[in-house]
Amino acid sequence: MKNLKVAFYVTGGIAVYKSVNLMRELIKRGAEVKVAMTTSATEFVTPLTFQVLSKHAVHIDTFSEEDPQYVQHIHLADWADIAIVAPATANTIAKLANGIGDNFVTSALMATTSPIFLVPAMNEHMLEHPATQQNIRTLKSRKAYVMEPDTGFLAEGYSGKGRFPESEMIIEELEGYLLAYKGERPLKGKKIVVTAGGTKERIDPVRFISNDSSGKMGHALADAAWKKGAEVTLITASTLPTRKQIKRVQVDSAKEMYNHVNESFETLDVLIMAAAVSDYAPLNQEEHKMKKKNNVTIELQKNPDILKEMGQKKVNQFLVGFAAETENIEAYALKKLKEKHADLIVANDVGKKDRGFNTNDNEVTIYSNVDQPVTISLTKKDEIAENIIDIVIDRTE
Ligand code: CTP
Repeated sequence: MKNLKVAFYVTGGIAVYKSVNLMRELIKRGAEVKVAMTTSATEFVTPLTFQVLSKHAVHIDTFSEEDPQYVQHIHLADWADIAIVAPATANTIAKLANGIGDNFVTSALMATTSPIFLVPAMNEHMLEHPATQQNIRTLKSRKAYVMEPDTGFLAEGYSGKGRFPESEMIIEELEGYLLAYKGERPLKGKKIVVTAGGTKERIDPVRFISNDSSGKMGHALADAAWKKGAEVTLITASTLPTRKQIKRVQVDSAKEMYNHVNESFETLDVLIMAAAVSDYAPLNQEEHKMKKKNNVTIELQKNPDILKEMGQKKVNQFLVGFAAETENIEAYALKKLKEKHADLIVANDVGKKDRGFNTNDNEVTIYSNVDQPVTISLTKKDEIAENIIDIVIDRTE
């Protein structure tokens, strides 16, 4: 989103109040936003709100050409890297599909050659009307991106499809659309499974054995792989959120994680084992909450080593493992690389407070069976994830 020039078109529906937040989120992510509104949109939220937040004058009237240097609706269309119509009413969708430019917004959109991203929001019956559906199909056939409206409580007081989605959802879809548009999807057609989080091994219904892993690294990796076009399944023991385009499989224990990885292994291209898998699980899981005693002994049994087993089974799959260490990092990482038949081992020091488990940052060294080790100095996990995925791309091309 950084430095992305967005022409933000607001058309008249109750969802206009939500588009204020969407615009702010775009700006927060580094986009420069210029707004144009239809007069109906100004009935819901004043142009001043958009002006103050975007720090640009809001265009409404095609004929109030204040700057003789430019024809404003053409200038805005040419300036923007992307046009976002949010909310897009049935009326504006119909005009666009039929080439009508009868106000500032529709005229600018008619003059737009950059990608157009529409977020329709309207009453369910208006959305389902054959004319609206036909118009949406027409716009899609012209390569405009039309987002699916949400289902839920509508302004009319009943539940139905047509709601303006949450800003986060819109931005996630927009990011994917932009990457696809730019053709930066080298992992298109590749199936990637990422595991994340610290597995939980139940002792009784209310107690478990686990570790300090938050799942942040695994979730960031799933996201980075998705952004590069992969079909991603995230098998996670973490409660962190996932974008809806990533298939999420929620698990608790190492055994559950093993079963899901094993099931999908044959058809996948890349497995990234970022999960901190508990090495042991209680031999017996108590059916009821254990009562207090003076001394308790819990017998543990070894969990399957998922990465090692997949390493033994692999045909063409590319395997990435992690090595969470507190000492002898290089030696242990190289041992894991060899013993688990991995293609990469991402080693990190989990003994320091400012990196590794349960933090936003990390510093890692990536060991491989073909290249020299690569160190990524202390930085955000998102950035580390992007670097790891770039190496995966290089090695699997
Ligand atoms: N791993 C796994 N299954 C396990 C344990 C670990 O698949 N039962 C994977 C982890 O996801 C990671 C790699 O193996 O990618 C190394 O995990 P780590 O916990 O660092 O090492 P261990 O193999 O458990 O060895 P040790 O605890 O002796 O360091």
